[in-house]
Amino acid sequence: MGKYNQVINYVDMKLKSNNNGHDISHALRVERYARRICDEIDVKVNTELCIIASLVHDLIDHKVASDQNIAKSELEQFLLGIGYDKSFVLDVILICDTISYSKGLELSSKEAMVVQDADRLDALGLIGAVRTIAYSTSVNRPLYIPGDISDDTAIGHFHNKLYKLKDLMNYEQSKQIAVKKEKALRQFEKQYINELEGVDD
Ligand code: ADP
Ligand code: NI
Repeated sequence: MGKYNQVINYVDMKLKSNNNGHDISHALRVERYARRICDEIDVKVNTELCIIASLVHDLIDHKVASDQNIAKSELEQFLLGIGYDKSFVLDVILICDTISYSKGLELSSKEAMVVQDADRLDALGLIGAVRTIAYSTSVNRPLYIPGDISDDTAIGHFHNKLYKLKDLMNYEQSKQIAVKKEKALRQFEKQYINELEGVDD
């Protein structure tokens, strides 16, 4: 089996027990967005680095790994073991370490900028809405409280974070995708509230 398929199997195995929006399908969508961004931007980037970092980016996230240092060294050993060289592996791990929204860190490379955009795109659109609701429900938060725009509710999270993402995109091409995805999210919110309030019924 090639290295790429071994990475997919490894990510699938590691994310199996996870039900808060970080599953293999998220990893594969981030990879797909990353490939698209690599194709569309004028900047020359290492596409393979973007692809592998996209696939593994959540494995060392605190929401997934109970001990981030152990998860990091396991990932490093795994990637070295299947034949990636040391500097590539360190680049992958650096990308995963720096792309998180909450950390707000300076990005390490053009590739980190691609993966961060790709990850953020999957927080938008109807998939973003569903992931947010899944996460919110998993931590026992309500879906909606009128007027609440904090992380205390799922719809609040749209305002507190998701609607800000399009302006935080690193590449213009990602922003264009984000604009469309945000529209879908806003339509979802509008329709959801209309139905709650019985508008048009
Ligand atoms: P990723 O690691 O993919 O960047 P996060 O770990 O930040 O994403 O979140 C995973 C999913 O859970 C995303 O869809 C995100 O919008 C959602 N999420 C994160 N934090 C919250 C929150 N406080 N309330 C509701 N949803 C959240
Ligand atoms: Ni992610």
